[in-house]
Amino acid sequence: MLSLRDVHVHIGKLHILQGVNLEVRPGESAALLGRNGVGKTTTLRAIMGLVSKSSGAIRFDEFDLSNYPAHKIPGKGIGYVPQGRGIFPNLSVLENLNIGVTGKRDTEREDYVFTCFPRLKERLKQAGNTLSGGEQQMLAIARCLMMRPKLIILDEPTEGIMPRLVSQIRREIYRIGQSGVSILLVEQNVETALKLCPNVFLMEKGAIVYSGAAHDLKGQPEIVRRYLGLSQ
Ligand SMILES: Nc1ncnc2c1ncn2[C@@H]1O[C@H](COP(=O)(O)OP(=O)(O)O)[C@@H](O)[C@H]1O
Ligand SMILES: [Mg+2]
Repeated sequence: MLSLRDVHVHIGKLHILQGVNLEVRPGESAALLGRNGVGKTTTLRAIMGLVSKSSGAIRFDEFDLSNYPAHKIPGKGIGYVPQGRGIFPNLSVLENLNIGVTGKRDTEREDYVFTCFPRLKERLKQAGNTLSGGEQQMLAIARCLMMRPKLIILDEPTEGIMPRLVSQIRREIYRIGQSGVSILLVEQNVETALKLCPNVFLMEKGAIVYSGAAHDLKGQPEIVRRYLGLSQ
């Protein structure tokens, strides 16, 4: 479904991605893990066409994503929830939710996302910047779901969010996966990532250094320690 083959990205003189290989299969969830600054966000931005690659291939289904400008990529079926959420502060919850919807409102889909995140329904007319961090994250995920994506890409969705909302967000990410949508998740909390995603990619210095099943990684604490700097 999604595949990256030997993807390189340079920003100025820096060689940020140094040959990333990664694959997400239909209906499967994968976690992309690694220490701060190893290139996780840049990988996601390269997929979404927000940073240009110097070489390599990025494919999604039958599409070569290099052929599409960034604004056309969500329409191919990829939803992206960026680190920091990207909510429009002065637009209401309802306006934020429908920002990518062209043509008439899809109220059936709105009802679906409100069953995922009932808190949003209670705050429809509130401006984006009056929501808590966790609520903004819910809105960012809900906004992606409005587009009926086949794959949803989440960059640290529980970063800086109060614990009570973190568990709700995790539960919904799990349910999104169960509904058949593929997930690519960047997450600092390794335990959570391994619970939510059966497949794992570990990144270091701009390249994938380990890929495998989450349950295999659980039995290899030395790898987790080496690449993530903590013990399981
Ligand atoms: N626009 C940019 N200009 C300069 N350096 C950048 C830019 N974007 C990312 N980097 C650098 O690339 C490296 C990888 O960043 P990033 O992909 O954000 O890492 P991660 O998400 O894993 O923390 C970091 O060293 C970061 O400083
Ligand atoms: Mg990042």
